[in-house]
Amino acid sequence: MSSLLRLPGLADVHVHLREPGGAHKETFATGTAAALAGGVTTVLAMPNTTPPVTDGASLEEAARLARAGARCDYGLFLGATHANASLPEALQRRAAGLKIYINETFGPLRVESLPAVIAHMRRWRGPGPVAVHAEGLMVPAVVALAAMTGARVHVCHVSRGAELAVIRSAKERGLPVTCEVTPHHLWLTERDLPQLGPFGHMRPPLATPADRDALWANLDVVDCVATDHAPHTRAEKLGPSPPPGVPGLETMLPLLLTALHEGRLTLERLVELTHTRPRAIFGLPAQPDTWVEVDTAAEWVVPERGWHTRADWSPFAGMRVRGRVVRTWVRGAVAYEEGYVIAPPGSGRDVRADAERPS
Ligand code: NCD
Ligand code: ZN
Ligand code: ZN
Ligand code: ZN
Repeated sequence: MSSLLRLPGLADVHVHLREPGGAHKETFATGTAAALAGGVTTVLAMPNTTPPVTDGASLEEAARLARAGARCDYGLFLGATHANASLPEALQRRAAGLKIYINETFGPLRVESLPAVIAHMRRWRGPGPVAVHAEGLMVPAVVALAAMTGARVHVCHVSRGAELAVIRSAKERGLPVTCEVTPHHLWLTERDLPQLGPFGHMRPPLATPADRDALWANLDVVDCVATDHAPHTRAEKLGPSPPPGVPGLETMLPLLLTALHEGRLTLERLVELTHTRPRAIFGLPAQPDTWVEVDTAAEWVVPERGWHTRADWSPFAGMRVRGRVVRTWVRGAVAYEEGYVIAPPGSGRDVRADAERPS
C-alpha cells in the first residue's frame, strides 16, 4: 500500500514575516519558502512589523515587498491602533483582516482602550474578520463585544481550556466567533520549559498539561490550526531579553500527520482545520491545481537546524514525527520538492488581488 497522500494546500492564517524592518529574522522570500516546505500554500501575514501596517501607505509598502518576495500566496493584515478606527472601506477590502492586539506581546501594536476596540469592531466591514490577540479574561470580553457590535471575531492562538469553554458557549449561542490553536500549544506545555529555556518563550505562554489536553478534547470547537510562525534569531533568543515567539511553518503538517497516525485526528478534520475553515473564514480565493504530496509513513526526528526559515531553529527539535512533505504544487507547477524550494520570489499572489486597485 502506498503511503503517499495528496492534501489540498494548507492555509495558515497567522504568520509573521518580519518585512519591513526585521529582515534579519525573516523575509517574504524566506518565510514563504518555509511555508512551501511545510505544505502551506497561503499565508496571512501579521501587521506587527517595523513600522507596523496600520494605514494605506504602510499596507502598500508591505504589499510591494510581498509582491517581490513571496513564493506562495499571501494576504496582509491591517493592525488596529487607538487612532485608526476609521480605515476607509477600500482599505478594509484590501486587507486579509483587522488585527487587534489587546494583550502584551511582541511589537508596539496594542489597543487597550475599550472605546477604541468597540469603534474598530463597529466600523470593520471585512471581508476578513477582526482577529484578536486576547488572553484569559479578555476572551469573554471580545466575545461580548462580538455580540454587541455584530463584528465577526476570530480569536488567535487559544491556549487554555477555560478560554475554549468560553468560545464553545459563544458558538452555542450563535455568536459570530471563530478561533485557532497553534501546534506549540497542542504539543508543548510549561513542563517543557526547563529544557526549552528561551526557545519555549512565546505569547500566550505554554500552558499546563491540563490546558493542552483540553485543546485536544475540545478540538471540535476549533476552526483552524495556525502556526503563529514568529521567527526570532537564535542570538536574540539567547540574549538578555528574549523576544516571545517560535517558528512553526515547517513542522505543523508533520505534527498533524503524526496525530493522524496516532488516531488523535481524522483526515477529514485535518483538512477542515488547515484548509476548508481558514479559507471560508477569511474569504480566500480558490487555488486551482494546488496541493501537497505527503509520505504518511516517513518517520524522522525534528532537527535543530537546516530549516528554510531564517530563524533556523525549532521548539520541536528532538521530537519523533511520522509524516513528511514530499512535494508542494502551486497552480500546476512544483513549488517545493524533497528539500528544495523551486517557486521563485515574486511567484506568490495577493489573496486580495481583486481589491488591489480600489476605485
Ligand atoms: C509574536 C511575534 O513575535 O510577532 N510573538 C508571539 O509570541 N506569539 C506576536 C504574537 O503573535 O502575539
Ligand atoms: Zn498574538
Ligand atoms: Zn502571532
Ligand atoms: Zn478546497
